Amino acid sequence: MKLAVIGTGYVGLVTGACFANLGNDVICVDKDLKRLETLSKGDVPFYEPGLPELVSKNHKAKRLVFSHDISSAVLNSEVIFIAVGTPPKSNGQADISAVISVAQSIAKTLKSKKKNKSGKFKVIVNKSTVPVGMGDIVTKILIENKISEKDFSVVSNPEFLREGSAISDFMNPDRIVVGASNNRAFNLITELYRPLNAHVIFTSVKSAELIKYASNAFLATKISFINEIANICERVGSDVLEVANAMGLDKRIGRQFLNAGIGYGGSCFPKDVLALMHLAREQGYDPQILSSVTEVNDFQSDAFVGKILKELKNLRGKRISVLGLSFKPDTDDLREAPSLKVINSLLKKGAQITVYDPAVSSNSKKELKELSFADGVYEAIDGADAIIVVTEWAEFKEIDFDRAKKLVKGRIIFDGRNIYDPKRVRESGFKYIGVGR
Ligand code: UDX
Repeated sequence: MKLAVIGTGYVGLVTGACFANLGNDVICVDKDLKRLETLSKGDVPFYEPGLPELVSKNHKAKRLVFSHDISSAVLNSEVIFIAVGTPPKSNGQADISAVISVAQSIAKTLKSKKKNKSGKFKVIVNKSTVPVGMGDIVTKILIENKISEKDFSVVSNPEFLREGSAISDFMNPDRIVVGASNNRAFNLITELYRPLNAHVIFTSVKSAELIKYASNAFLATKISFINEIANICERVGSDVLEVANAMGLDKRIGRQFLNAGIGYGGSCFPKDVLALMHLAREQGYDPQILSSVTEVNDFQSDAFVGKILKELKNLRGKRISVLGLSFKPDTDDLREAPSLKVINSLLKKGAQITVYDPAVSSNSKKELKELSFADGVYEAIDGADAIIVVTEWAEFKEIDFDRAKKLVKGRIIFDGRNIYDPKRVRESGFKYIGVGR
């Protein structure tokens, strides 16, 4: 099939590369010429395992091309995916201006009556996470531009890709949600996903739009729930890992997303929970669970800093080695990373920080410039008064405590992601402080 994907950010590029790999002809469109140049060289401007190889393979095979010309991409495609950003405004509401601007460009192109090289009927698919009702807004923009309702259909097809495993999530989805108002559009999108042999669910456009928010909000709720249980564990002497493992065996509950820690971050959960709360409030409903989910999440990183202060007392001049930075392992993404909140609090209290993250360097973000960066775990902990783990990268789990013991000044580990066995750490001569243990 001939496809256009507007927006070469995370979602757009993964979608474009994966569909090209399934044998479709894909034009990925972006306004950013520099980004297009990078992509055309087969380079990917962010970290996602396997994506550079997929992009370059399909680009070489000419199934994946990059362009800034939205108009020609629209005319050459049967299906047009909108995958532009919907960042949060200061009140939590999703900023939909980029989606509107793309819809206007599509409408103008179709109105111009330039030669449609790929059939008259177009399916416009919203991949961006958008508030409920966005499908109607895009439809209205096309109708206002005198595009006949016979010639297009707007579909909502939310993505459920996790950073770090986006390609495998795309290729092996638990379900594919297609929110459509008619069979023609639904069948076309189902056909596109046929090679994946996945469970495709046909819903209304508005339900599909909510499914995305509700799914992410539920996962965030699971995390805040287990973090609350962890806080109770600390007070009553239970171990949250034992609790979560046993709870998770109940099939109705499931073990995933029950890892307690310093809270969730990233480009989706914080933003989507706030956007859903905003959506509810706009309709006069007070979302009480969601408010608590964000409160518990904010509390987790503060409580972690509280533990560090309680143990180390005065942080002025103390050297703290921070292992990790990215909001989760296998990504260099720092958006809403709880690590940054923790580091800022420690800096304010006068601590000297040395950081090591396998994927993040001091050039990744302006605020990081004042931190000292190490090239490896042992360099980072050399001379440290305390070690704190904020991201559960696999290599941190392999640390040799006997070697570490000789390097550090203070033998204490604050494990913000519960990656170590407290008994083992204690036996090797360190004091261990985790979350909920
Ligand atoms: C998430 C959703 O999983 C994905 O379906 C959606 O499309 C985009 O948002 P992502 O943000 O990439 O994906 O990461 P995810 O693996 O879900 O983790 C999100 C955050 O939750 C991370 O900060 C992670 O550390 C935290 N987390 C996750 C926990 O604290 N405990 C857990 O048990 C699981």
